[in-house]
Amino acid sequence: MRILGIETSCDETSVAIVEGQGERVRLKAQLTNSQMKEHAKFGGVVPEVAARRHVEFLMPMLERVVTRDGKGIDAIAVTYGPGLVGALRVGVESAKTLATIWDKPLIGVNHLEGHIYANWLDRTARQKPIVFPALCLIVSGGHTEIIFMPRHGMYELVGETRDDAAGEAFDKVAKMLGLGYPGGPEVAKMALKGDEKRFDLPRPMLDSDDFDFSFSGLKTAVLYTIRELKKNPSAKTKADLCASFQAAAVGVLVGKTTRAIEQMKPKTVLLGGGVSANVQLRKKLGNAIKKSSPKTLYVIPPMKYTTDNAGMIAAAGYFKLLRDETSDPLTLEADPNLSL
Ligand code: KG4
Ligand code: ZN
Repeated sequence: MRILGIETSCDETSVAIVEGQGERVRLKAQLTNSQMKEHAKFGGVVPEVAARRHVEFLMPMLERVVTRDGKGIDAIAVTYGPGLVGALRVGVESAKTLATIWDKPLIGVNHLEGHIYANWLDRTARQKPIVFPALCLIVSGGHTEIIFMPRHGMYELVGETRDDAAGEAFDKVAKMLGLGYPGGPEVAKMALKGDEKRFDLPRPMLDSDDFDFSFSGLKTAVLYTIRELKKNPSAKTKADLCASFQAAAVGVLVGKTTRAIEQMKPKTVLLGGGVSANVQLRKKLGNAIKKSSPKTLYVIPPMKYTTDNAGMIAAAGYFKLLRDETSDPLTLEADPNLSL
């Protein structure tokens, strides 16, 4: 089955064609147009600008991956939340229109479900199949959640952030240090040259009894550390601060997830969301699982499916179609606060 995926929830316009067969999903085509450079001037995403750019980009991009009559496509999957309402609407209304004129099933996909299903994309026959129950750590610019997945399409919230998302904390620390936007990749790059032991930063809620997170205290600790320096930090100090912050943030994410794995004993652990591009997180979570639950399968999405893309939306859409979870093209609405 071939699924057309459309993603416009934030600042990436993305379209993709994914082919699904049984438990396997393979990417056939994907185009992503990032507006990051445009938003970087403002230090963050400007919702109105994002929506306008989606309007401009989406149709020409669709024309490059699918014919005008929709031939060869079995269904259309679109992100309908969570995200920026104007941005989401561009994708949702376009998908509704195409589903109606092509008379194809429409599948509304939760953006976070997409991040989870990025893990299924392009897995080869030589790789072990993903088995349930699974535990997912979703870390993005807007979300930090641990989710227990007993089977396809079932999501139980285990823990979440009580304030900032992990990606948001990376972005804010980057801003404090005058690094570019989005901050995650910039902080990670600087951290490569830094000493993570130089600054002793807090690891909030690491030892609390629940599986919730908090990143605002860590962010504030970075701010106070910068203020205490009294003079503008040198490149070396910035690198040390990035490394120390990254170690603290990754430490909390890995610590909490490892404890959830020990308690819930999933057969597979999945990682998803923009912050899953962080090499330290990918590595340290893998090492922790190897040590504490060596029989657990650890799956991380290929780098190109970590940040927002339509391939992951089409992949999630494929599995929803298998369960007949389609949407009504007349009534599907963008839902900026959609939860899993
Ligand atoms: O999933 P995503 O593309 O968009 C949302 O759904 O939010 O995630 C974007 C977030 C941003 O906060 C960005 O700074 C962060 O992912 N990010 C990273 C890295 N690459 C992207 N954070 C840490 N390390 C990275 N290498
Ligand atoms: Zn995302």
